[in-house]
Amino acid sequence: MGNGKLLHGGDYNPEQWLKSPDILKRDLELMRKARVNLVTLGVFSWSMLEPEEGKYDLDWLGEIIDNLYAQGIMVDLATPSGAKPAWLVQKYPEVQRVGADRVRELYGNRHSHCYTSPVYREKVRAIDQALARRFRVHPGIVMWHVSNELGGECHCELCQAKFREWLKEKYATLDRLNEAWNSAFWSHIYSDWSQIESPAPHGEGAMHGLVLDWKRFVTSRTLDFYRMERDAVRELIPEAKFTVNMMYRFDGLDYAKFAPDLDIISWDDYPTWHKAGESDEDICLKSAMMHDFFYSLKGKPFWMMESSPSMTNWQPVSKVKKPGVQMLSGLNAVAHGADAVMYFQWRQSRGAVEKFHGAVVGHDGREESRVFCETAELGKALEQLAPLAGVPREREAAIVHDQESKWAMEGSQGPRNIGLGYWDEVMLHYRALQKNAVTVDFIGQDGDLSGYKLIVCPMLYMLREDFAEKLRGFVAKGGTLVLTYWSGVADETDLCRIGDTPFGLTDVLGLRRLEIDGMYEGEKRRCVSAVAGERAEAYGSVLCEVAKSETAKPILVYAEDFFKGAPAVCVNRYGRGRAYYLATRFEPDFYSGLYRGLASSLFDLPITTPLPDGVLPARRGDWLFLQNTSGRTATVMRRRLQPYGTLIVNLKTKEKLIF
Ligand code: GLA
Ligand code: ZN
Repeated sequence: MGNGKLLHGGDYNPEQWLKSPDILKRDLELMRKARVNLVTLGVFSWSMLEPEEGKYDLDWLGEIIDNLYAQGIMVDLATPSGAKPAWLVQKYPEVQRVGADRVRELYGNRHSHCYTSPVYREKVRAIDQALARRFRVHPGIVMWHVSNELGGECHCELCQAKFREWLKEKYATLDRLNEAWNSAFWSHIYSDWSQIESPAPHGEGAMHGLVLDWKRFVTSRTLDFYRMERDAVRELIPEAKFTVNMMYRFDGLDYAKFAPDLDIISWDDYPTWHKAGESDEDICLKSAMMHDFFYSLKGKPFWMMESSPSMTNWQPVSKVKKPGVQMLSGLNAVAHGADAVMYFQWRQSRGAVEKFHGAVVGHDGREESRVFCETAELGKALEQLAPLAGVPREREAAIVHDQESKWAMEGSQGPRNIGLGYWDEVMLHYRALQKNAVTVDFIGQDGDLSGYKLIVCPMLYMLREDFAEKLRGFVAKGGTLVLTYWSGVADETDLCRIGDTPFGLTDVLGLRRLEIDGMYEGEKRRCVSAVAGERAEAYGSVLCEVAKSETAKPILVYAEDFFKGAPAVCVNRYGRGRAYYLATRFEPDFYSGLYRGLASSLFDLPITTPLPDGVLPARRGDWLFLQNTSGRTATVMRRRLQPYGTLIVNLKTKEKLIF
């Protein structure tokens, strides 16, 4: 897809500048200087492409695409369904989404359409096909960008009817549905499908099985809408390639379900660089973790579809990137598997909600601006790094992330309703592994475990029976499993497992859960070494599970309260492998220690000596990236790294590059 190059560019919205041909001309010149080779076009152009119902004006877009192509810039062409013209909503109010409160949205916001509305589908299909018909033979179009940041849900009557259909297909009979949802609770037995309604703040919320199924339905509806758009284009261009731009830690959709239908995974990365109270290292790790997550969706290089070259305009405080951070974050994406570094947006808007959002070309239009210069520098670096295009990553360790399990766990009332901090838990494991230069994938319960030596299951609340089986086989054959508290609790419709838990794994772990205690913010429970005389100490927080060890060997035990003596960390030998169980959430140091040990015994690490503070490693194929996320110079491998600088080492040829 990269044609042997890394891609560089961003969202380009020339529809906002059609009356200024000089600016459009200048854009081309500046793009050449910034070494742009790909732009995303047309995301929000619908009202310019179809100014009146059924009357298309695609010529201006054609001219832009031709001009870009003439200078070697490829196009990621969007379907415009993310924002619609006013005439459409005025004529067909049903296209607007209805909220959980059952209020229909007025015209104004983007991303506010009903995914079911036949009129909306028809209009979207028509404009998509008009674009496909017009541009089907254009060699400059290398990708179709379907809609924009898919998300949200609609509770209109059309969607309610679809929800019921979806449920009928899933359960076939109401008896089965009532059973799966435990509907005898609060007298909920449904006697007719029409009684079932989507969740609402003033209505349903108590039936966890229903709420979970609704979330699954929203994913399937959104996917269905995506497929409708993709097929509209594909009918006319069978060889077209498709992507959708995904979002950071987005909870509204189960992205894993989309992956098989996409040619390239892409996502929009907006880290809160230089946030007060948080180190840039941690902020960088948050993006890195998502890069790894998105890489893993297909196990293939992905595109960073959007990122701000300077500031956003929607964070509580929108800070500009300090000098060098543009390079740092672009190369970080590449280190973790990106084949494209793209921005939102090319040229800063003059008016409306995004007028202060950072852009490569600011309101002054100057190429001397710091942002422009840093973008051009990154463009140059990406050209130098062309051999990385398409290079896959190692398969070493995997963290299990299952969106449905997260929904179920967070949708439940339980031991800690002030927040379970799921991503904080995941980050503790990720951070420690990543800092040891272990390549981390994220897999779901349908994932393939082959090739991994270490599998981590943080809070795998809804552990499926088939996955428990897979884990058992993995450990039996010599794999190492780390599983935490609040795993193996409920089944796929959020019914609690009957009998001993963690479900399906008590023998693998060599223990069973007795109780789980919620902890207040700041509340801690002391843990000490299980070996008398050995000095080790750690503190548990958030949730503290008490387990009874059968064959597991305790490593740490609780040292206070009536928990005293119960295992806080243990390890069990099972078959040829080992299973670690963590009964609570510890401080970062604990994970550093645990994973330093595991990483050095399981993997052939590219670095074995500790890196200076703030320097993060990442490996892609033969390339090791060492990135200085701190504002101070640092020395690594006898090379001096500027603040936010990057050293790239080819592990085979020993070639070194510094940026
Ligand atoms: C999202 C959208 C873009 C733009 C940016 C601003 O990622 O996809 O259209 O609004 O946010 O940060
Ligand atoms: Zn709807």
